[in-house]
Amino acid sequence: MDGLGTPGWRRSAPEVIAGLDRKRVPHHVAAVMDGNGRWAKQRGLKRTDGHAAGEEALFDVVEGALELGIGWLTVYAFSTENWKRPVDEVRFLMGFNEGILVRHRDQLNEWGVRIRFAGRRDWRVPRRVLKRIEESEALTRANKRMTFTIAFNYGGRAEIVDAVRALVEAGVKPSGVTEKAIRAHLYEPDMPDPDLMVRTSGEYRISNFLLWEMAYSELVFTEQLWPDFRRENLFDAIREYQQRDRRFGAVQE
Ligand code: IPE
Ligand code: IPE
Ligand code: MG
Repeated sequence: MDGLGTPGWRRSAPEVIAGLDRKRVPHHVAAVMDGNGRWAKQRGLKRTDGHAAGEEALFDVVEGALELGIGWLTVYAFSTENWKRPVDEVRFLMGFNEGILVRHRDQLNEWGVRIRFAGRRDWRVPRRVLKRIEESEALTRANKRMTFTIAFNYGGRAEIVDAVRALVEAGVKPSGVTEKAIRAHLYEPDMPDPDLMVRTSGEYRISNFLLWEMAYSELVFTEQLWPDFRRENLFDAIREYQQRDRRFGAVQE
C-alpha cells in the first residue's frame, strides 16, 4: 500500500462513487474474506500466497470504507474452525495477522482508526501475536473515525457461549438472561449490528460469523475471490444494499 506517512488515503475517481447515496451508507459493514486458497490455486501458487495477496484487498477496502465514512468495519480473518487446516497454513495465518498489525497499525492510527480484535484469546494463539494485538488496541484506543475489527480465532457460537458463561459466572438469575444482558457480554458490547455483510468467492453461507449480530443484516454475496476484491466491489455491494427494503419484521406503510 502506498501513502505511508501521508495524511490522506487514496481517493476514488468520481465515477467509482457515482450512484452511491452518501446519506445512506451502512454504518457497519462486515466482510468474510473468502477465496484466497482458490485464487492461489488458479495461479499454481501455494494457498498461503493467496492469503498474502489478500492484504492489498483488505487495505483497499479499509480505505474505501474510510472514504465513505463507514463507522465500523469488521473482517473475518480466522475462524474457530480454521484450526482444522494444515499446521503450516495455520502457522502462516498466525504470523500473517501479526504482520498485518506491524505493517499497518501506524498508518491506521494516523487515519483515526481504532483497531480491535474479536475472538477467543486462548492458549492456541501464540503469545507474540496476542502481544501485538494488545499493543495495537492500546495504540489506537482513542481513535474515533472508524472501528476496524479483525475477527480472529472468532466463532459466533463461541462468542454466544462466552457471553452466557459470563452471565452464569456473575450469578445472573434466569429472569436476568435477556437479549440485552447477552449483548452486554459479547466481545464488543458497544459494536452496532452489521447493516451489511459481504462474502466473496461465491460461497453462500455464514460460516459461524457474527451469528448474534447478523440477525437482521443485509447479505450480499459476490463471485470475486478475496485477493481480487477492491473498494469498487465494496461500493457495488453498498449500491445493492441501498436497493434493499429493511423491515425488521415490521410492516412498511
Ligand atoms: C479465506 O480464504 C481465508 C481464511 C479462511 C483464513 P480460504 O483460505 O478459505 O480460501 P478458499 O476458500 O480455500 O479458496
Ligand atoms: C470463513 O471462511 C472464515 C474466514 C474467512 C476467516 P472458510 O473458508 O473457513 O469457510 P468455509 O469452510 O468455506 O465454510
Ligand atoms: Mg474458504
